[in-house]
Parts: sequence; structure tokens; C-alpha cells
Amino acid sequence: MVSADTGNSIPAHICIIMDGNGRWATKRLMPRSYGHKKGVETTRSAVEYFAKAGVKHLTLFAFSSENWNRPVDEVNTLMELFLTSLKKNTDELNDKGIRIRFIGDRSAFSQKLRDQISSTESLTQNNQTLNLNIAANYGGQWDIINALQIITAKLENGELDSENIDQSLFESQLSLADTPEPDLFIRTGGEQRISNFLIWQLAYTELFFTDVLWPDFTTREMQAALDEYARRQRRYGKTGDQIVGEMQC
Ligand code: FPP
Repeated sequence: MVSADTGNSIPAHICIIMDGNGRWATKRLMPRSYGHKKGVETTRSAVEYFAKAGVKHLTLFAFSSENWNRPVDEVNTLMELFLTSLKKNTDELNDKGIRIRFIGDRSAFSQKLRDQISSTESLTQNNQTLNLNIAANYGGQWDIINALQIITAKLENGELDSENIDQSLFESQLSLADTPEPDLFIRTGGEQRISNFLIWQLAYTELFFTDVLWPDFTTREMQAALDEYARRQRRYGKTGDQIVGEMQC
């Protein structure tokens, strides 16, 4: 159950690096694919828990641009898992009002997977309970270069003047252009890295790292992350006294 004491401090946008599936399986003398299957169950539970808690945007790092370097068998298992999980869960998530979108370069995926992604996206496009963004074949550096290419093309065809390039114009070309920046970043699995996730958008995000492996990330751990966020004071470069003063006005 969601505890009531987080008050108004619920993050509007959470992003997660779901790390530790492989180690979770290896510890149980099972193949890594078993860990990924368990990881899908945790993913499902996180979507439901954070939606109930009032989170409006959830961005999950499912497959990085660098994950293609894993053994072919593991990459194939992950691709198969994306396809089957989407097939299995889309209708139920749709009934719960979840809007599902993929960010990243999907051109490398099989036609079957691309078709499933498109049909999931169009079925859920008007839902409003939670925006679920799945980052697949995504990299923060790719996202920035992609935005630059779009802007350069607009400059070249005269649609844009260089003096009009500012932060908001640049951000309008990123994958999550219509989404507020993440308030809370969670990484499970013990590593304390951003690993080329939403590198532009994480500028002021609160970071939460836990040693818990993704398949073991229970609703209790999810609530612990929300509680930790509620305790943080977000200053955006100001002093603590200024922030307290603003809250009293
Ligand atoms: C990192 O653990 C996990 C991944 C690369 C895959 C994450 C994918 C899922 C949890 C499935 C989500 C499914 C959908 C449809 C969104 P790791 O393999 O790097 O673990 P390790 O660090 O212990 O080796």
C-alpha cells in the first residue's frame, strides 16, 4: 500500500535503470534469461505501484544502445521478451489508463517487434493515468545527436534562424520533448552510474541508488525510494533558506 506521509512530495516523473537481472539469476544458478523474465514481473509491479502513488510519467531503461554488445543469445531473449510482454500486458495496461510509448532508435528491431510497438502505442495514445516511456535501443548521447541533426536540417532549409536556438528549442527536439524532466532517478543493482540514460534531462534530478537487484525491488523498496525523495530539498542552485522562505510565502 502507498503510505500517506509522502504528502505532496510525489515525483511527477520517475526514471529507472532496472539493473541486476543477470546477477539475480546467476546467484540462483539459473540462466540470465530467467532473471530478465523475473525482471518483467518487477517492471509490471513498478508501473502499477507508481501509478497508484500518483506518479504521472515513468521512463524505464529497457535496452541501451550498448546492450547490442551482449552475447547474441541474451539479446535474442530480450527481444523475444519485449515482444511477448507487450502482447501479454498491453490490453490490461490499456484498461488501467496507461499510455505506452517507446523512445530510442527502433529501426534495428525486427518488423514484428516494430509492429507490436506501433499497435501498443496507438491503442494507448489517449490514456491519461500514467505515461510509460520505454527506452529501447536508447542512449542519451544518441538523443542529443538526433536533436542536433533535426536542428541542423531546419537551419539548412531556412526553417530556422541560428539566433533562435535556445534551451527550449533544443529540448523540443529530444525524445521526451513533451515530458517534464525526471524528478527522481532510481538505479537498482548497486552501480552508481547514469550509463548514458537521459543525460540531458537529469541535470537537476534527485538520484537514488540501491544495492537491491531489480527482480528483488519490491513495493517496499519502491516506497522507500518515494520516502527518500520526499525528504530531499530541491534547491536548483538556490540556498536552503531561500527555499524555506518560498515555501512560507
Ligand atoms: C539490466 O540487468 C537489465 C536489462 C538490460 C534488461 C531490462 C529489461 C527488463 C527488466 C524487461 C522490461 C520489459 C519491458 C517490456 C519494458 P543486467 O542484465 O545488466 O543485470 P546484471 O547487471 O546483473 O548483469
